[in-house]
Amino acid sequence: MTILAAQIGALAQTTALPDPGALADGEARFVIEQFALTANNVTYAVHGEDFAYWKFFPAPEDHGIVPVWGFGRAVETRSDAVAVGSRWFGYWPMGSQAVLSPQQVSAFGFTDGAAHRAALPYFYNRYSPASAAWGDDALQCLFRPLYATSFLIDCLMATRPLDTLLLSSASSKTALGVAQAALGRQTVVGLTSPANREFCLATGYYDQVYSYEDLGGIPGDAIGFIDFSGHGGVRHNVHSLLAGRLTESHIVGDTHWQAPNTAQLPGPVPQLFFAPTVAQDRVAQWGAAGYDARLSAAWAGFAATLGWLTVSRVMGADAVAAAWARLVNGEINPADGIVASL
Ligand SMILES: NC(=O)c1ccc[n+]([C@@H]2O[C@H](COP(=O)([O-])OP(=O)(O)OC[C@H]3O[C@@H](n4cnc5c(N)ncnc54)[C@H](OP(=O)(O)O)[C@@H]3O)[C@@H](O)[C@H]2O)c1
Repeated sequence: MTILAAQIGALAQTTALPDPGALADGEARFVIEQFALTANNVTYAVHGEDFAYWKFFPAPEDHGIVPVWGFGRAVETRSDAVAVGSRWFGYWPMGSQAVLSPQQVSAFGFTDGAAHRAALPYFYNRYSPASAAWGDDALQCLFRPLYATSFLIDCLMATRPLDTLLLSSASSKTALGVAQAALGRQTVVGLTSPANREFCLATGYYDQVYSYEDLGGIPGDAIGFIDFSGHGGVRHNVHSLLAGRLTESHIVGDTHWQAPNTAQLPGPVPQLFFAPTVAQDRVAQWGAAGYDARLSAAWAGFAATLGWLTVSRVMGADAVAAAWARLVNGEINPADGIVASL
């Protein structure tokens, strides 16, 4: 039984830490049954300090425990809030066990009330029951948080006076969800690595797909750029080449985390998109039930098109550490959905 901690400064390297010890009053122990590994988890690690992702599961100095999305099952409890045997979807350490302090229990789940998480975004502190609406466990691990982000971006873009959406890291699951939802409403153009261009085209979600090295023919007079790549060079080229036609620019991700943005950009000032904040605004606008109904309907439409996805199971600490290292180094096939278990 193990928790994997990434080495800060050399994220592909992991150290095995022991599982948490005896429970205190109010705590419950969960076995982490399975979780997804995607570029989103790498972004959590890259922004472990500045976006506080290291604070969810404190680690020894010079290490960070990477948060992952998946299922945990209560196996021991000194809390009345959760029953032994109950299963929960949420934010876990990349490991085999976690100890939480379940509080604010309702039919919709509970909150981890641990003191070190009190100032962290509510969205990440909630644990929910499994939901049949999201499909099987693997699909929930892979897409429940990512597709919620796709949906929120699409809702925002639907209100904008844009004729074209331009998505970088077009092969990422979050970008694919946006593309599928927006196709037909606006011209949807993908930007991707040369090796992933055919994959993006084959999904059928994009009107056009360009490689990062060839941005020449991007169409549109009112273009919204949604940057999942965080690649400074790509961002600069897009802003320079589309000058006058680029009307808005949004920063969503950091998949190309080794090429950060440093340059001054011409054109619109990029806006940071942070899904938990936007989700709270939508829940305030539509109510929780209205938000869930809209998200479920959009997800059902996307889920029906996932013929391109291959779920790839990774079991055991060594195999998970190796998969994590490949992910950090960008050596993952975009058609693979990695579902891991220690
Ligand atoms: N702001 C928010 O609230 C929010 C919410 C959810 C997700 N996100 C972000 O959206 C991005 C996509 O996440 P995802 O989980 O959907 O990704 P994913 O499906 O795992 O994306 C895989 C793709 O990302 C690119 N990539 C991955 N690792 C790379 C590396 N080391 N070097 C270069 N390129 C790499 C490649 O795309 P290309 O070849 O096409 O570039 C690859 O095909 C992440 O940065 C994530 O943090 C942000």
